[in-house]
Amino acid sequence: MGKLWGGRFKKGLDESAVALSYSIESDKRLYKQDIAVNRAHTKALAKAGILTKEEGKTLVACLDDLEARFATDILPFPQPDEDIHSCIERLVIEKVGDLGKKMHTGKSRNDQVITDTRLLLSDEIARAISLLDDLQFSLWELASANQKVIMPGFTHLQVAQPVLFAHHMLAYVEKFGRDRARLHDCLERMDECPLGSAALAGTNYPLDRELLAKELGFSRVTQNSMDGVSNRDFILEYYAAVSIMMLHLSQMSEELIIWSSPILGWVTIGDDFTTGSSIMPQKKNPDVAELVRGKTGGVLAAFVGLHETVKGLALTYNRDLQEDKSQLFNVVDTVRLSLDCYAKMMPGITIHEAPIRKALETGFVLATEVADYLVLKGVPFRDAHEITGQLVMLAEEQSCGLEQLSVKDMQQVSDKIGEDIADVLTLQAAIDRKSVVGGTATKQVKFQLKRLKEHYKWNKR
Ligand code: ARG
Repeated sequence: MGKLWGGRFKKGLDESAVALSYSIESDKRLYKQDIAVNRAHTKALAKAGILTKEEGKTLVACLDDLEARFATDILPFPQPDEDIHSCIERLVIEKVGDLGKKMHTGKSRNDQVITDTRLLLSDEIARAISLLDDLQFSLWELASANQKVIMPGFTHLQVAQPVLFAHHMLAYVEKFGRDRARLHDCLERMDECPLGSAALAGTNYPLDRELLAKELGFSRVTQNSMDGVSNRDFILEYYAAVSIMMLHLSQMSEELIIWSSPILGWVTIGDDFTTGSSIMPQKKNPDVAELVRGKTGGVLAAFVGLHETVKGLALTYNRDLQEDKSQLFNVVDTVRLSLDCYAKMMPGITIHEAPIRKALETGFVLATEVADYLVLKGVPFRDAHEITGQLVMLAEEQSCGLEQLSVKDMQQVSDKIGEDIADVLTLQAAIDRKSVVGGTATKQVKFQLKRLKEHYKWNKR
């Protein structure tokens, strides 16, 4: 038995059509889920009296045995089967004979394949959430261990204002927190069992759909069979969530790549996440960060690809939908590997304070402090901005930093400037004056570290 539908055909499929349409090489990855679906369905058939109890037991035992055989990789691939569903049905029939031919009663590959997919994806999303937790925690630890390190914060990649390195790390903890929440939402919404939808219209057999859902670990059943077999928006939603997450990983990669370049030398990435050059012996390349950045486009492409696949489809199942799976498998692997690498790479990063400090001497990083100082002396901000600009010009002429200008020289520009300007012209003062909620002040960052630890229950780690 090579296929499930030979009855009305005189001729077999052309070789080229076989090559185009058979999906076993890709969807064999769903063997576990497909066996679970068959097992649950068999139990529902027995409960509905379509199979005797004995028949149900024999089939379930056969499926259990099959699962163990798959797990130890005994089954030779490629098989002559069209897809994993045909493969499993064939193997059951080969094992238990005619009884096996009853297993597909009241279901279709249409509801079966999408139930399999939901099962696989829920596991992968749960895993991604757990890896995101690992990554967030590693960033939190980096922040926590380096609470005193001050670095230049950038806008337009130009030195803007000093910030705590910890503040920078926690910005990513926030971003990944939203990614995590989006994945949670997605998981919650897709937690419905389509089994019982059969080909499209539902089934004639009185299958206990709630039982089917429970057996497979779903919270609810889908409420419309036509939607049940045609819905792919849960995959799109997942893609949307992980493309945004990959975007964040990509941004972080970009920063690590810049920071670890010998030109800046702010951080060193561990040997276990960098590679050498085949020609230049001195090189230590941030390949893992680059690869993650490079894979980001592919994840978005999967979203666009499936969006376009579904776009023109009339309800319900169309074979185009088979194309959803190989992309999905690629994406879940990319997401898992990227998060896993990052969660392990971040704790191994070494921060070099000296070059970071040096960088703070460039770009007049304290200029905004001077303007804010003048505002407190009663100068309207717009004028304070202008005056500070002139001071920057003066410092540029003297090839020094703003904090190195003499008070006398500064007073030539504005008589509002007093000796107390020295109090605001330090990096630490600039940091600690940003004490609004969410600001970079040491106290604020400490507060956020504590809040995040409680929120994500990291004290239990
Ligand atoms: N291999 C198919 C897929 O992945 C299974 C469903 C086939 N259904 C059908 N009516 N031909 O979509």
